Formats: sequence, C-alpha cells, structure tokens
Amino acid sequence: MYKLPGNAGVSVFGDKSLEFYRDPVSFCQQRIEKHRSRVFQCRMLNRPTAFICSVQGMRELLCEKSNLFLKDPTDLMTNMYGDTVVTTNGEEACLLRLSLTSLFAGSCLESSSDYITSVCERCLKDLSLSGQPECVYSAFKRLGTELVLGLFLNIRAEEQPDLFQEIMQLCTQHWHGLISAPINLKVPLWSSGFSTALDARDKLMVIIKDKLENDTQGFVGSLGSLPLPDSTSASQHLLLFISALIPKALASLLTSFTLALSGNKQARLRAMEDPDYLRTVLLEVQRLWPPFIGGRRIADQDTTIAGFPVPKDYGAIYISHSVHRDPEVFQQPDNFLPERWSGRNAGQEHYLCSFGNGPRSCIGTKLTDVFLKEACMYLLKHYDWCLDPPSQDLEYKWLPVSRPANPPTISFTRLDLTRSDRSDTN
Ligand code: HEM
Repeated sequence: MYKLPGNAGVSVFGDKSLEFYRDPVSFCQQRIEKHRSRVFQCRMLNRPTAFICSVQGMRELLCEKSNLFLKDPTDLMTNMYGDTVVTTNGEEACLLRLSLTSLFAGSCLESSSDYITSVCERCLKDLSLSGQPECVYSAFKRLGTELVLGLFLNIRAEEQPDLFQEIMQLCTQHWHGLISAPINLKVPLWSSGFSTALDARDKLMVIIKDKLENDTQGFVGSLGSLPLPDSTSASQHLLLFISALIPKALASLLTSFTLALSGNKQARLRAMEDPDYLRTVLLEVQRLWPPFIGGRRIADQDTTIAGFPVPKDYGAIYISHSVHRDPEVFQQPDNFLPERWSGRNAGQEHYLCSFGNGPRSCIGTKLTDVFLKEACMYLLKHYDWCLDPPSQDLEYKWLPVSRPANPPTISFTRLDLTRSDRSDTN
C-alpha cells in the first residue's frame, strides 16, 4: 500500500495550521497539484493529519468508516459551547441526536413555518427603501439572527427590542472569542477576546436558563421537556443554536445566492416559476460556496482512506470546497451550472458535504432548507437586483465562514412597485 502523500512534519515546527488558516483553499490546491492526489497529509493543530479533498475520501470518512473516526472532545467548540452533541461520540451522541432531531422535523418543523414566513417578510421588505445599495451580508445576518432568536428563544426583535439587541451583542462577543486564541487572561483594564467571550457566554447562559425555566411554549418549551443526559444539556445546546455561527452560515448562503443570480434576470424568473430549478440553483450555490470549510475527526484505529493508510490517532479533515470541486464527479467544477443537478449529477446530492454527511451530518438541514427557500422566494418575487457598483472585488475568504472578503453591495428594485409605478404613469 502507498503511504499518504505529503509529510506529517516534526512536532511544533512542522505545524502548518497558520498557513492553512490564512488561506485554506490555496493551501489545499497547492498540495493537490504537488502530490497529484486529493488525499494527502500535513501537520495540523500539531497532529499528523490526513486532508480529504475527494468525494470518495469524504464518503469513506463520514459514511462508510464513520465509526472509525471520532469527534475530538477537546475541540475549541467544547470550550465555547460546553458538552454538546457536536463533540460527543458513541452511544451518547446517538441518543442526543435522536432527541434533538425530533425538534427539527415533522410537526415541530411545520409549526415554525409561519414564523419563518413572517421574519423573511419583515427583514426583507425594505431592501430597496433607502435608494442606496445594500450590504447584503449584514442584512442577511440580521435576518438569520431574528430567525434563530425568535425560533429557539421566543424573543422577537419587534416585541423586545432591548433584550434582542443585548443578546445579539453577547452572541457577537461570544463568537469573537471562538475565533480568537483560547487564552483566558484578564488583567485590570484589559481582557483577552477569549475571556470577554467567556463572560458573554455566562451572561447568555443566565438568559437561556431563565427561558428554559419559565417558557413552556415553542422550541424552548419542547427542548426543556426532552430526555437529555444532564441538567445543563438543554442550556448548552440552546447556546449553540442561538450562537452567531448559524446566522453567519445562513447569511453566507443567501449572499452567494444573490451574487450568483445578480444580473441574470432570466435565471431569476425561472427560479421563481420553477421550484425544481430553484432547488438546483441552491444545490449549486452550496456546492461552490459552502459556508464552512469542513470538519475534523481523529482516527480511532489504523485504517485507510481512498486506499492510503491512516494510522490510529491521525487527524482527518474533509475540505468541503475541494470535495465539491472534485473533477471525477463534477465536470467543469468551477462553473456555476445548476442544470448539472437535473442532468449528469441528478440524484448525487449525497456527494456534497456543506452540511456534513453520514450519521453525523447537520441536524438543522431541513430547517435550513425551508428557511432558504422561503427567503429566496421572497427575494425572487419582490425584487430585481444587480451589483452596485457593477464592478466589485468578489474574492471569497473561507474562514471562519465563507463570504466575499470585501462585503458586496447590491441594489434592489421592488418588482411590485415597478408595476404600480408603471400603471400610475399610464
Ligand atoms: C446554513 C446553515 C448550516 C450549515 C452550513 C451547517 C453545517 C453543518 C456541518 C458542516 C456540520 C457537520 C460538521 C462535521 O462534520 O464535523 C453540521 C453539524 C451540526 N449542525 Fe449544522 N449547519 C447549518 C445549520 C444548522 C442549524 C439551523 C442547526 C440547528 C439549530 C444546526 C445544528 C447542527 C448540529 C447540532 C450539528 C452536529 C451534529 C453531530 O455532530 O452529530 N446546524 N452542521
């Protein structure tokens, strides 16, 4: 058997984490070309790590061999959110998933649908009002925040604006800690981002616990009555669900959607009239611009990926951007071609990993799907839009959540107003 292409480097000095975090896409692209292989090794987080950039490798890691690769319980996610399903393994993870999944399916999901409709209407109805181009990423992040706080905590921006604002700020502070170095250091008049984040987390926990104790309605009510492993589990999961992570991921996809269809009136009309075409547009958006770069596991025993040996205790990272551009599966991988999903790639949605894949895939996929379709339909039905100014630098950054590094601005023109304006002048 051939060894994993590349070099695991020596401890500490051979570590490539910084280089990876600076530009993960070029990091992988360079090595794919150098090793002529979409699976290779490097030292990441000071651990020899297999990088998986092919569809076949991703499917082995996340599906066929998912029981051989474990989540890392010492991950930064545990530091910031406590013990949640995200970093749990084995039977405990199965039971947690079973309990939590019920909140994101069937009647629970159906009961969210009116709120999703109303929040899209409220947050998107004024996009053309100022007459100025909109910074779409910020507008969509606000929409995502209203969605998660309303849905998961019963806190509506229009009913409790001060509390809403306070939670939003705390979530932002908490988030900045997640992406800052984990140094819990406090000296008079100065505290590191990480310790500010931990303070924000404590304040959020007080609000969340109060909700869990006193609110019997909606998601928070259902979560409070689920059989969970211990008394802190419900609050820690709520902290995860309302964190800035989800609004940012939603804003990422909505931004990529508006950019992909800006200046393409034909495609917008078709997406509005044909739900299947909208489905293929959204698949292509998540293929080319997945919000998260990927996920990480640790090998629990000696095994193989794509025929290469992966020793026990090696890390394994799947890179969604590279998996989604694997030319073995996706012809013309860098081109935006929604038609591929009703042609050559029909029925191959399981070759994507924007929401993970296999037994540890995202439990919020259905909710996200309902929300995205609602938001996109609102935009398609009510607006024409184009980049303003027409020429902007749309180069993406991929971490912590993908979006153009320079926030793009878009001008929206209301379609219904255009029509009534027209009839006024007739
Ligand atoms: C655009 C929106 C979203 C994206 C792109 C996304 C993406 C992902 C990805 C890639 C994973 C797998 C991580 C891995 O393999 O290590 C994941 C897992 C997870 N997601 Fe999402 N997610 C989104 C929305 C949501 C929502 C709305 C919720 C719930 C409120 C949610 C809850 C979770 C949980 C609990 C897991 C962990 C599952 C497990 O480890 O078994 N996500 N998500």
